[in-house]
Amino acid sequence: MRRVITYGTFDTLHHGHIRLLRRARSLGDYLIVALSTDDFNARKGKTAVLSFEDRKEDLEALRMVDLVIPERTWDQKVSDIDLYQVDVFTMGDDWIGKFDFLGDQCEVTYFPRTPLISSTQIRKAMSSATE
Ligand code: CTP
Repeated sequence: MRRVITYGTFDTLHHGHIRLLRRARSLGDYLIVALSTDDFNARKGKTAVLSFEDRKEDLEALRMVDLVIPERTWDQKVSDIDLYQVDVFTMGDDWIGKFDFLGDQCEVTYFPRTPLISSTQIRKAMSSATE
């Protein structure tokens, strides 16, 4: 069993997320998504329109996602990789180089970000539609 892990907020699940998750799952047989909690988002200065529970429900509906765990801190990656016996850590290339230090524990891979779509853009469109 080759286990893959990725991290993120995944607010208003969109095409860029789906492509990232499909590519991540193709690196192994079991995909774990560490999903930022609402508290952690607040500390990152990010306000998701969907709650942790709703974002988790969306991810769990996807066939390429095997397990969703909470991401509560920046520092938990090292212990998650140990705990879940992770073989591959992957993120979109907006994070390129940032997590290379995890290469001591597992493979580290970045995928090209899908252009022209983001949760930020969707949140903006939603708020201007309700003004
Ligand atoms: N991602 C991607 N392509 C996009 C948007 C996101 O590949 N167009 C990837 C990110 O690189 C990350 C994962 O999806 O690995 C989760 O990203 P997240 O920050 O939740 O999504 P964004 O749409 O970038 O959210 P925001 O605008 O709030 O930063």
